[in-house]
Order: sequence, then structure tokens, then C-alpha cells
Amino acid sequence: MTTTGMRTEFQAWLEAIGSEVEAGLRESLENSSLVGAPEGLREAVTHALLSGGKRVRPGLCLLAAEVCGVDRKAAMPAAVAVEMVHAYSLVHDDLPCMDDDLLRRGRPTVHAAFGEATAVLAGDALQALAFEVLARQPDSTLAVRQSLRLARAAGPAGMVGGQQLDMQLEGAGASASLAEVEQVHAGKTGMLVAHAFLLGVDLAMEDAGPWGQWALLIGRLFQATDDILDATRSTQELGKTAGKDNAAEKATLIAVLGLEGARGYAEDIAAQAQDLIPRLPMQQRSVEIAALPTYLLERCR
Ligand code: IPE
Ligand code: IPE
Ligand code: MG
Ligand code: MG
Ligand code: MG
Repeated sequence: MTTTGMRTEFQAWLEAIGSEVEAGLRESLENSSLVGAPEGLREAVTHALLSGGKRVRPGLCLLAAEVCGVDRKAAMPAAVAVEMVHAYSLVHDDLPCMDDDLLRRGRPTVHAAFGEATAVLAGDALQALAFEVLARQPDSTLAVRQSLRLARAAGPAGMVGGQQLDMQLEGAGASASLAEVEQVHAGKTGMLVAHAFLLGVDLAMEDAGPWGQWALLIGRLFQATDDILDATRSTQELGKTAGKDNAAEKATLIAVLGLEGARGYAEDIAAQAQDLIPRLPMQQRSVEIAALPTYLLERCR
């Protein structure tokens, strides 16, 4: 696969729909049970959700709907819900008892700005709000299908399970095995990214079929690059503290394979995703889909 260093068609698409996603997130909060909550909690939830971020997961959800021939507006509740779960996962990931980070998306983390107890509760609130948004959809069959998908991706067999393994392997560094790192990646990040896309597919199909395997590769590639960025970019570029994985002796691709090995590993996943593309059923947006592996490989934040 060729890498160009240029802005990909996927990134251009993500930027083009950016204001729609921001409006969707803002309106969902305004029309949710957050409205009646204590002010401190409202501020913390708003800080966590409306704070920038690349919005890759909602973008993938909306893109999937279009790829399947569905108007992307219909996928907005799921796009919002998956970003809410992601935002909650970041708030908790940054807590002193987890990665202990003070900077996120170029701003103070939620616990740095509002205190630890409020940060825990803001994460809890965002998770509940995600399922509130899904459940409010008029199509109850769709609401149940997407709720089950998001619950599984976020829960013990998905993001939360991966985070537990990540914590258990903290300090292991290079003594972790590649299989262990792969399990962490697939769980803590891969599942939510993959199922962000599949939530959009849910609008068109009962069974994600050939998209399932492709989406999991995309999810793993996302975290492979996250490990590489932590080791190669500055805090300013990332908007979060660089070099934290090495400092905490995390079980990362870099620790296990070295930087060049990690790059080769990521390129291999991207090539596998690229090879599957001719077999995927697409109504439209095939250019953006074809550009996605390269975007994920070359992203610099
Ligand atoms: C960071 O996710 C945490 C991971 C799961 C790797 P993103 O890189 O998507 O962070 P934002 O949403 O753009 O801030
Ligand atoms: C975080 O992984 C994954 C989740 C938040 C579920 P990291 O700990 O590697 O994410 P960053 O690097 O802090 O964004
Ligand atoms: Mg972490
Ligand atoms: Mg972290
Ligand atoms: Mg990281």
C-alpha cells in the first residue's frame, strides 16, 4: 500500500461533516435528562463531550450508514451514543487511579478541572446518557439492536475488559507478549471503534456480514497508531501527555516490537483491511472507505 502523507479523502469527509456531528452532540445533551442535573455535573459532562476530539467514532457510524445507502441523519443517535461512551471512557482513563493524566484534547482533564468524584460521576452520566439517546429512537427494533451492540462493545468483553487488562499489564513493558498487547488493543479500543462503524451498518442490515471482520481490523489499527503516536509525537501535537506509555511501562506495541516493528505491524493491519475492500458491499462512499486505512496509519494526532 502506498502512503502519501497527504490529507486523505476520509479526513476530508470527517472535516466536512464536523459541524453536523458537533450540533448532534450538543442537541442530544440539550434534549436529555442532563438538563435537570446539578450544575457541577452538567459542566463536567459538557467539558468531557463538547471539547474537541477528532470525532472518528461518530464519523465512522455516519459513514457506514451512507455506505449502506441510508441517509446519515438516521445514524446520528448512534453516532452521538458511541461518542458519549468514548468520552466517558476517556474521563475514567485519565483518573489518578488509572493513567493519571492532566491533559486531554488540549485542555485539563475532567478530574483536574472538577475533582475526582465529579469526574467519576460525569463518566457514569455519559454512559447512561448514551443508552438514553439510543432508546429514544422511534424504531424500537433498531434501538434494541444498537443498544445491545453498544453495550457489548463497551462492556466487560469490550472496552472495559480491555482497560482491565491494560491495568493488569501496567509495569510489564517489554515482558508482555504480543498476544497480550493484541488482546488489550482489541478490547480497550478496537471494539468501540469497530462497533461505531457497525452501528451505522445496523440501519441497513440485520447482520453486519462481511463488514464485521473489516471493522475489527480498523479498530485494532486505530490503537496501533495510538501507541506509535504516544512514542513519536509531542504533547502539543497530541493534546495529551506524550511518552506516558513508556513512563508507566505499559504493554504496548512499542514495548514489545520496538518502533520500527510497531510501524510494520500497523502497516500489515492496514494492508489486510485494504485487501478486504473489494469484497465489501458498498452503495456509495467507496472512495472514503478506501482511504480509511491510510488515514488511520498516517494520522498525526
Ligand atoms: C484516544 O481516542 C483514546 C483511544 C481509545 C485510543 P481518540 O484518539 O479518538 O481521541 P479523541 O476523541 O480524538 O480525543
Ligand atoms: C485508552 O487507551 C482507551 C480507552 C479510553 C478506553 P489509552 O490510555 O492508550 O488512551 P490515551 O492514549 O490515554 O488517549
Ligand atoms: Mg489507558
Ligand atoms: Mg490513557
Ligand atoms: Mg494511548
